[in-house]
Order: sequence, then structure tokens, then C-alpha cells
Amino acid sequence: MNFMQPVRDFLGCATPDAWLREAVKQMPLLMQDHANCEKKAASTAMNLMFRYNDRRELQHKLAQLAREELLHYEQVMEMMEKRGMSYRPVSAGRYASGLRKHIRTSEPGHLVDVLIVGAFVEARSCERFEALAPLVDAELGRYYTFLLKSESRHFEYYLDLAKEYSPEPIESRVAFFREVEAELMTTPDPVFRFHSGVPIAEEG
Ligand SMILES: [Fe+2]
Ligand SMILES: [Fe+2]
Repeated sequence: MNFMQPVRDFLGCATPDAWLREAVKQMPLLMQDHANCEKKAASTAMNLMFRYNDRRELQHKLAQLAREELLHYEQVMEMMEKRGMSYRPVSAGRYASGLRKHIRTSEPGHLVDVLIVGAFVEARSCERFEALAPLVDAELGRYYTFLLKSESRHFEYYLDLAKEYSPEPIESRVAFFREVEAELMTTPDPVFRFHSGVPIAEEG
């Protein structure tokens, strides 16, 4: 799928095979965490909409994005219900906090960094759905493939907004977060989640 190439080019690494091997063993946990991710994605977008009330382009793009994430949330919940899976609480892994701790505190750097981090989260989700699709059952595989299109567009939305609101070229900040993100993907991670790194059990 050609809309995947910009996603792959943007990310600093592909998902490690060890994560994929663990993922197929942990599908109920992965689906619950995926549902949480969709809900969080909508909430993050809406928080930005409230905080940056005067940014017109941001309002338009993120209103659409939030709507789509909530729809995904409903779809994942429905699939879980169909499979007899009940809601269970899943704590956050290290991924989002590992990225967010590097976000600058003063504006306009703060907004630009939040948007760049948003682009990485969307791009990684997209890359993982594509890698997972052939490894899971047919229904879920079709659904993950269906998600690629919207998640790759969300990645572009965040990146476009970061460019729009940055007073300077964003390449060096993108390169910085690319390294941070790739490190979170390729280093051992004790907590398995949708966005976790190399599962500890797979080490050695
Ligand atoms: Fe989504
Ligand atoms: Fe998304």
C-alpha cells in the first residue's frame, strides 16, 4: 500500500519481530490496550482543541481526528464484546510518558513537540497494524488493514500542523523524537503493551 511508505520513512525502525511474536500470544491484552489507545487518542486531540482555541487548522483537523478515534474505540469495543471479552483495566506502558518527557515547556515549542509526538504515535500505530494484520485471525486482520488508511492520515495531520505552527523548520526536532521513539521500540521493556518495546521474555 503506497500510503504506508511515508509512515515507514518517518519512523526510525520497524517493529521488532520479538514484539510481534509476543503480540499474537497476548491478543486479549492487546485488544484491550488498543481500545484504550483509541480513547486516549480522541482525548489528546480534544485537549489540544481546548488549549489552542484560536488555531483554526488545528480545530478542523483534530475535530475530525477525534471523531474517527472515538469511532475506532466503539468498533474495538464491539469486537471485544462479540468475542466475549469483558473490560479489564490495563495500566499505561512507558511509551507515551517516554516521549512526552522530552516535550518543551514553553511555547511555541510546546505545541510543536506535542504535535510531533502525535505524529510518531499515529505512525507507529499504523506500522504495527500493518505488521499484525497477517498474523491475527481474518476478521481482526481485515479490521487492522482498514485502520491503516485513517491512522496514516492522522500521522500526516499531526505532521502538517507541526510544520504550520512552528516558526522554524521542524526537521531537527523530528530527528530527535525519531531517535527517542526508536529507542523505546528496540530496547527491553518489562511491560507488554500495544506500543511497548522488546518483550523481556524474548531476551537472550
Ligand atoms: Fe484510531
Ligand atoms: Fe489515529
